[in-house]
Amino acid sequence: RKKVTIPTLLAMHAHHEPITMLTAHDFPSAHVADTAGIDMILVGDSLAMVALGYSDTSEITLDDMLLHCRSVIRGAQTSFVVGDLPMGCYEISPEQALGSAVRMVKEGRVHGVKLEGGEEMAGTIEKISRAGIPVLAHVGLTPQRQHSLGGFRVQGKSAAGALRILADAMAVQEAGAFAVVLEAVPPAVAALITRKLRIPTIGIGAGSGCSGQVLVQVDMLGNFPPGRSLPKFVKRYGDVWGEARKAIELYREEVKGGSYPGVEHGYAMPAAEFEEFER
Ligand code: KIV
Ligand code: NA
Repeated sequence: RKKVTIPTLLAMHAHHEPITMLTAHDFPSAHVADTAGIDMILVGDSLAMVALGYSDTSEITLDDMLLHCRSVIRGAQTSFVVGDLPMGCYEISPEQALGSAVRMVKEGRVHGVKLEGGEEMAGTIEKISRAGIPVLAHVGLTPQRQHSLGGFRVQGKSAAGALRILADAMAVQEAGAFAVVLEAVPPAVAALITRKLRIPTIGIGAGSGCSGQVLVQVDMLGNFPPGRSLPKFVKRYGDVWGEARKAIELYREEVKGGSYPGVEHGYAMPAAEFEEFER
C-alpha cells in the first residue's frame, strides 16, 4: 500500500469513499491497524485511560504523548498518523499551541495534530496549519472539557445546540483544519453538518452520515479489563481480553501441572557431550 497523505484523504472524500480511522498507542497496536489497511491512525489522549490506567485524559502530559507517538510511528508504515494535543499544552495562546504542535512533529514524528474546540480555537488552528502542520479539529463532545460539559454527554440534541456545533465545524474549516472529528452528536445533525462542509467529518458516535469513522482500538477489540463501561456507539468486534486471559490461564495451569515446557520446547544436545558434562 502507498503512504496515505492529505491529498489521498481528500481524494477519498471527493469520491465519497469512507475514511477509516482507529486509535493506537504503541508499536503493536499501530502495526496491526496499519497492516489491516486503516487510513488514519490517531494517537488519542484516550491512551491515558486505555494504556496507562489514569482516570481521565487530564493526567497525561505532552512528554507522555511524545513517547507514545514515536512508538506508534515505528509501527505505522503507510497510515497517516495524527497525535492528540493533551489538555494544558495548547489553550493558553496560539503560540503555546504552535510550540506544542511543533514538538509533536519534530519529537513525536507524527504527520498532524488534533485539538479540541470550535470557534474559540479558530485562531489557534490557523496558527498551526499556517505553519504547515495539518490540524484535525474535534467538536461536539470534547472529553478534555468534561467538567464544563457536565460529563460525557451527547451534544447538539437541541436546535440551539446543533447550531452551535455547526458554527464550530464551519469555524474550524475556515481556520484551516483538514478534517473535523464530530463526537457524540445525533446522526441527523452530523449528516447535515457533513453536507454543509467542504472538509471531511470523522464521526465517533455520530452516525453513518459522516465522511469517515474513528473508534478507540481497545474498545472495538474488546481488549480492556472487565468493568470498563463502553459508550453505546462502540461496536465490539472482538474479545481480545478474553482470548488473552484464556491463554494466560492455560499457560499458568500447564506450568503448575508440569505439562509445559514439553520436550518439543527444549534444545537438543549430543548424548556424548551430556555424559561428559555429567561426569
Ligand atoms: O483520544 C481519543 O481516542 C479521541 C478519539 C476518540 C476521537 O480523541
Ligand atoms: Na482525544
